[in-house]
Amino acid sequence: MLSTAKYKTLDAERIRQDFPILKRKVNNVPLIYFDNGATSQKPEQVINAITTYYQNFNANIHRGVHALSREATEAFEQARKTIADYFNVQNDQQLIFTAGTTDSLNIIAGGLGRSILKPGDEILLSSYEHHSNILPWQIWAEDHQGVIKAIPLKKNQSLDYDKIEDLITTKTKLISITHVSNTLGLVTDLEKIKEIAKKHNLIVVVDGAQSVPHMKVDLKELDVDFFVCSAHKMYGPTGTGLLYMSEKWLKKLPVSKPGGGTIKTVSFSKAEYAEGALRFEPGTPNIEGVIGFAEAVKYIQKIGIDSIHHHESELVNYAQDKLTQIPEVEVYGLSSEKAGVISFNVKKQHPFDVGTLLDKFGIAVRTGHHCTQPLMEILGVPGTVRISFGMYNTKAEVDFFIEKLRKTISMLQ
Ligand SMILES: Cc1ncc(COP(=O)(O)O)c(C=O)c1O
Repeated sequence: MLSTAKYKTLDAERIRQDFPILKRKVNNVPLIYFDNGATSQKPEQVINAITTYYQNFNANIHRGVHALSREATEAFEQARKTIADYFNVQNDQQLIFTAGTTDSLNIIAGGLGRSILKPGDEILLSSYEHHSNILPWQIWAEDHQGVIKAIPLKKNQSLDYDKIEDLITTKTKLISITHVSNTLGLVTDLEKIKEIAKKHNLIVVVDGAQSVPHMKVDLKELDVDFFVCSAHKMYGPTGTGLLYMSEKWLKKLPVSKPGGGTIKTVSFSKAEYAEGALRFEPGTPNIEGVIGFAEAVKYIQKIGIDSIHHHESELVNYAQDKLTQIPEVEVYGLSSEKAGVISFNVKKQHPFDVGTLLDKFGIAVRTGHHCTQPLMEILGVPGTVRISFGMYNTKAEVDFFIEKLRKTISMLQ
């Protein structure tokens, strides 16, 4: 998984200066933000881009003839180009702006569910999917006697790829799978998934919410039917995300979320829909969000995604190593090739108690089921403590966290 591309070692201390929130204190101690999997912090560049938009050219986009509307439209469409460039997508119309990963998955499931999927069809997911990649399929399945199957995990919590073929029948139509588990940080082998999908002619949907913040994603090379992600997990604003679809689906996917802007003509009896991205972008979009998203992508490009990836991999391995030396700690999905995320529990302690005490030391971690309840059931726990890194985290922060975790454990005994 680790890219062999040339990269510059990143200067986390320097990067931290760009993130105003990292200067603040929590409970009178400097904030340590280890909840990047939920949402990352935003650099000044992103915050300024949003402010600039509101202060200088706030207007609704597309169809406006006045100067502000033209400027806002230009910034919005330029953002599409910037992001398409970053993900190596030649036709920027294949990138549809949505409210985020959840919204994108709902649009895909809603569209495929209208006429592509047939009653009784079967859908493959993995056992470590986020709820947002389960529920839209489940709703479709409930209404159409569909069947959902989950790829099982091995004892070490990695996906059991050898079991996939056993789950496939002539009714299997689609595999929708996360690129990186938001709970375990494990990276799905998409090449293997694509190989199996090709053999059985399956549609492939990839949830990239947790991969794009940590690793290079080249959508041309990946070459899947659909890929989705959220801006707010990659240093951009909340309420904005991407839905990438292949050229074939851009023409063929039925519209499931119609509205102003998605059409060419409308009468009371029928509508002719627009072509390209607009077809799937109803209503006034999140203009500030899209502008901020492009700025976040530029920021990542400036630092270098390979540098970010190597920095975070070092942090993961450093933290995992220290955590496994604490006898009371159990780490889930142990692997040296994780994307920024580690889940663990302190034996006999509820994750909420651990998280609450860590917060007293200014350390922000996430506790609970992380919207992966089926995975929690497999692990046999109510939840875990999750730490997840961003480009601004440091080994010194990991050391402080480990020290305070040891203290927390002794306080809870
Ligand atoms: C793997 C994965 N999929 C989907 C989502 C949902 O993302 P959003 O809340 O931005 O729509 C998340 C968020 O945590 C996630 O980690």
